[in-house]
Amino acid sequence: MIKVAVIQTNPIFGRIEKNLNNIKKLFLNSADLVVLPELCTTGYQFKNMDEIEKYSEDFTNSFSVDFLTFLAQENNTIIVAGIAEKSNGKYYNSAVVISPNGLLKTYRKINLFYRENIYFSSGKNEPLVVDLGAYKIGVMICFDWIFPEVARSLAKNGADIITHPANLVLPFCQDAMLTRSIENRVFTATANRIGNEARDGIDDLKFTGKSQITSHKGERLTSASLDSEEVIIANIDPRKARDKNINKFNKLL
Ligand code: ACM
Repeated sequence: MIKVAVIQTNPIFGRIEKNLNNIKKLFLNSADLVVLPELCTTGYQFKNMDEIEKYSEDFTNSFSVDFLTFLAQENNTIIVAGIAEKSNGKYYNSAVVISPNGLLKTYRKINLFYRENIYFSSGKNEPLVVDLGAYKIGVMICFDWIFPEVARSLAKNGADIITHPANLVLPFCQDAMLTRSIENRVFTATANRIGNEARDGIDDLKFTGKSQITSHKGERLTSASLDSEEVIIANIDPRKARDKNINKFNKLL
């Protein structure tokens, strides 16, 4: 069995160190896999390119990656977290997979949402699957949920659990992820944020909370509140995601 934890937070825009220390306070020391929200170190609503340049990080020399690696070491866990990335003059809305030995892999969000299109480049690689030995995780970020192909690609490439850092504003995703579980027979772990982020001159976005973990059968195993920072946990058997036969005649893939 794998103990999966999802941490729902309320980042303060631009306060990377404070946001990471808050994650550390909420952190759970007994989980095998911990999923954090999208852009969980910076907050979501960038106003201009100067802010993107200031707050995004080169993952070869990153305070946030080092901080999370230390947290992974201290707690002997795998962490999936959304962080703004800079690389070769471009900026990406990325998710890192971090082990106690450091950064394992990075996924760059393919389907950018709303104003993200102004600042970030879209990822050009296939959705990421990482083999962790006893189980495989897929990674997608927030708005990727609306395109069933992303979860399908992850399932076809062997993901048992889809990890899903998010900053959700539309109301449909949490229910849609039950369908993504059913149609691909995978577990999912959506880490959403809460709160509002009003910044001068741009829309005041409200994030929908209700982070959740779903089973390979489309059951909601656990769900967080709309408006509190909290940790939710589920113990799952990832091997259950591997039988893709509905019956002896019907196969999902
Ligand atoms: C989103 O993709 N952050 C809505």
